[in-house]
Amino acid sequence: MKEIKRYLVTSALPYANGPVHIGHLAGVYVPSDIYVRYLRLRGRDVIWVCGSDEHGVPITIKARNEGVSPQDVVDKYHALIKDSFRRLGISFDIYSRTTSPVHYRTASDFFRTLYEKGEFTEATSMQYYDCEAETFLADRYIMGTCPHCGYDRAYGDQCEKCGSTLNPTDLIEPHSTITGSVPVMRETRHWYLPLDKHEAFLRQWILEGHKEWKTNVYGQCKSWLDLGLQPRAVSRDLSWGIPVPLEGAEGKVLYVWFDAPIGYISATKELTPDWEKYWKDEGTKMVHFIGKDNIVFHCIVFPAMLRAHGGYILPDNVPANEFLNLEGDKISTSRNWAVWLNEYLDDMPGKEDVLRYVLCANAPETKDNDFTWKDFQARNNNELVAVLGNFVNRALVLTGKYFEGRVPACGELTDYDRRTLAELPEIKKALENDIENYRFREALKEAMNFARLGNKYLADTEPWKIFKTDPGRVATVLNVALQITATLATAIEPFMPFTSEKIVRMLGIARPRWDDLGRTDLLEVGHVIGTPELLFEKIDDDLIEIQLRKLADAKAANLARETPVEPQKETIVFDDFQKMDIRMSKILAAERVPKTKKLLKLTVDTGIDKREIVSGIAEYYAPEDLIGRQVPVLVNLAPRELKGIVSRGMILMAADAAGKLILLNPADETTNGAVVG
Ligand code: 2FM
Ligand code: ZN
Repeated sequence: MKEIKRYLVTSALPYANGPVHIGHLAGVYVPSDIYVRYLRLRGRDVIWVCGSDEHGVPITIKARNEGVSPQDVVDKYHALIKDSFRRLGISFDIYSRTTSPVHYRTASDFFRTLYEKGEFTEATSMQYYDCEAETFLADRYIMGTCPHCGYDRAYGDQCEKCGSTLNPTDLIEPHSTITGSVPVMRETRHWYLPLDKHEAFLRQWILEGHKEWKTNVYGQCKSWLDLGLQPRAVSRDLSWGIPVPLEGAEGKVLYVWFDAPIGYISATKELTPDWEKYWKDEGTKMVHFIGKDNIVFHCIVFPAMLRAHGGYILPDNVPANEFLNLEGDKISTSRNWAVWLNEYLDDMPGKEDVLRYVLCANAPETKDNDFTWKDFQARNNNELVAVLGNFVNRALVLTGKYFEGRVPACGELTDYDRRTLAELPEIKKALENDIENYRFREALKEAMNFARLGNKYLADTEPWKIFKTDPGRVATVLNVALQITATLATAIEPFMPFTSEKIVRMLGIARPRWDDLGRTDLLEVGHVIGTPELLFEKIDDDLIEIQLRKLADAKAANLARETPVEPQKETIVFDDFQKMDIRMSKILAAERVPKTKKLLKLTVDTGIDKREIVSGIAEYYAPEDLIGRQVPVLVNLAPRELKGIVSRGMILMAADAAGKLILLNPADETTNGAVVG
């Protein structure tokens, strides 16, 4: 095995066309942050690069929809993404962007080198062209019906419903997303990376050389290789992107998936003049953290590019994760079905580590997983508060109470003490092994095992019961508990850096070195510790309800948008309409109908009389919000008995596609009894 001299860690460059959400975090950024923080604690030479992916069609589509330039879009989201990563403690060494001048130069030079070495092929092909917009329609500029599942809004590169990868020509009834027109076929010329030429090497390198890769990654590579690799176009007919750096290539830019991974190199160049050492020396261990949709680009295409260029190392591992779902549904940016990081940080200040913890504990490492707010609440209350927070708090509070906050001397250890302490190096070893092998969920369990062990130790030794009779024993117990706390502070740092920092501050010590974890002299006898503060707070149902309501609103909005408007009913004559007697009426009283979820009993003043009406709006309006509102009422509807109440009339309301009811309020109040018609 080669000696590892340094690490180069990369994390997928997020597209700067929207904020980052929990799926991105659980899949890529939380695990890579844990890995890098761990390597730093161990004193390894490591750099971690990332940045915004600022090219590609989704960005130009967003710009067009919003009436701004693509540069405006990426400026906005680059700043937002960068800031929210920082707020969550995601500790990149550099967070760059693919519109940086260094990146333009690096990507152009890379392309030119491959061109000059004869590593590309050139070919003309027929592609869809929008005659109204006078442009070729790449990828997402074309939409149509998916040939696999029949979804009528599939894109030219992918169907978001069934997930199939598509070519624009696969679409049934294609149309341009720019003008809506039906495109024509036109000839265009592009440069291709002949992946078939690298197939034998890739087979050997991955299938023989990297059997240790995660099963999902290895499996995907194997099926791509078994299908046989095809040349892939590395240029596009678009105006937004890095121009193809060749004479006569006007109107052509580098394909976003050609320039984006080169962004890792550009970011490293921006970070350090020593960048070549990280990219070209065999002593570097390069690890790409990505989501499963990026596997082919990082395991097949980018390695082929690096190899075609020559002089670069290839990744040692690509620990791709599967996807995180949200409350049982696929996370979707366009359908606003997500927990956005920037919103979470605003809604839940001080709970950065709670999110990091939950996303790691629930990370989709081997299969897709589900994030639910109830699980978030339960993990906070039952694990962070009850285990981690409780242990640290007890150790510190008892030291304050019995020893005025001074670390008490450790007397003679019992067998039980020794057995407890003997577990520390075992946990440390398991923790290291899990992180080094990209098993972060297991690693987090091990880190928490230090707290579990400490809790059990205090519960078994019960120092609060014996202080009066045996203060010497209590001193020993608390000394042991405080030493475990110091170990815990470092062990959880990769996962929960803010909490780690708090513990270290409360203990009043420098953070213990990784190699010293499990030692029993991390705190000196007599050292004065600081004032204990709670590490985590219980999360109540109210806080969770707010988040669930947000999601319910998003779901309703999607349903309303996606459900076609009801077709018009049969024509009626004026007399039919005239039969209805609709009067503006004021709601005087409102109360829930017992044992029902949907019904309210309303007392209304119709101008004619005061009467009771039972209405099915309890899910959308609270009784107190209705009183005093004026609404149209169909007063001559035949009375009907509902749950023992005679309802005389009907409140007229709008119902959206999701069935949500909206009261109709007049812009100006009128007299009760005024005729509507
Ligand atoms: O899938 C994505 O979000 C891409 N923007 C990832 C790019 S990773 C790298 F190659 F730049
Ligand atoms: Zn489909």
